[in-house]
Amino acid sequence: MTAPNDQANPTRADASPLSANYPELVGKVAVVTGAGRGMGAVFTTELARRGVHVVAGDLTGAPEIADQVNGDLADGGRVLGHRADVTDPADHDGLLHAALDEFGRVDFWINNAGIFPQAEFTEIPPEQITSTYQVNVNGVVYGAQTAARHMRANGGGAIVNMASVAGVRVRVTRAAYNSSKAAVRHLTSCMAVELGPDNIRVNAIAPGFIDTEMTRWVREDPEALDRALTTVPLRRVGAPIEVFGALQFLLSDSARYITGAVIPVDGGSQHI
Ligand SMILES: NC(=O)c1ccc[n+]([C@@H]2O[C@H](COP(=O)([O-])OP(=O)(O)OC[C@H]3O[C@@H](n4cnc5c(N)ncnc54)[C@H](O)[C@@H]3O)[C@@H](O)[C@H]2O)c1
Repeated sequence: MTAPNDQANPTRADASPLSANYPELVGKVAVVTGAGRGMGAVFTTELARRGVHVVAGDLTGAPEIADQVNGDLADGGRVLGHRADVTDPADHDGLLHAALDEFGRVDFWINNAGIFPQAEFTEIPPEQITSTYQVNVNGVVYGAQTAARHMRANGGGAIVNMASVAGVRVRVTRAAYNSSKAAVRHLTSCMAVELGPDNIRVNAIAPGFIDTEMTRWVREDPEALDRALTTVPLRRVGAPIEVFGALQFLLSDSARYITGAVIPVDGGSQHI
């Protein structure tokens, strides 16, 4: 039974109404990038709690998340933590091979790693454009290519890309990030069309303002927080577990006829 105020207290993962049961996920194998902290760490933990084996990749932090989850879960999925830089195609191959060696298959690939730099438009340094596109765009392409080559030969699978409300709404001083996330949206359509005949579904999630390290500085600055919340009709920050709700749905059989979709999890921000 869910307490009436749980919706206003969404960081309590255990009390969340989002712990929907998708028994078909048990025993499946997922790769999650950017899994060392933030949403990727929550995705890894929550997938494992639901019986999914996970290869967690990140520049830092993934082995620690794996140790934590494996230590906490008596049963459930197992997690392998690997150092992986999404800007390097060879590191995606490394994640794939780790999954194949340990679990024998890959069913799901979550392109979650991202960076969120800021600069006024005229001040954006070339290296900011380069690094943002390398991580947020190239990283998604390389991950999806690696996943799709494997899935194509193995009957299919599901890929989920992390887009953002910033891909459809302009947030000032974020041109590099905004445009990289717009690219992720369109790439999701391109992949869905091209990979659909191989039974590979490709969808995206477009979070709004979510409570992670990435947005900590906004939450810690009262003025910035007020300004940010004026762009959220529900007038609160979202919790990573609420984004996970969309992820597990997209991976589940309930979404088996859904591909090329971008699901907003943004408290309504895309409309403002
Ligand atoms: N937090 C939000 O409000 C929000 C909103 C919309 C979209 N998103 C997107 O959701 C995703 C997760 O964001 P988060 O809030 O958890 O951020 P976060 O900063 O807490 O975590 C991002 C993770 O990605 C990793 N990463 C960065 N560059 C990498 C690289 N080259 N290779 C491998 N890993 C790398 C980081 O080490 C970090 O662990 C990102 O794609 C982000 O753009 C976040």
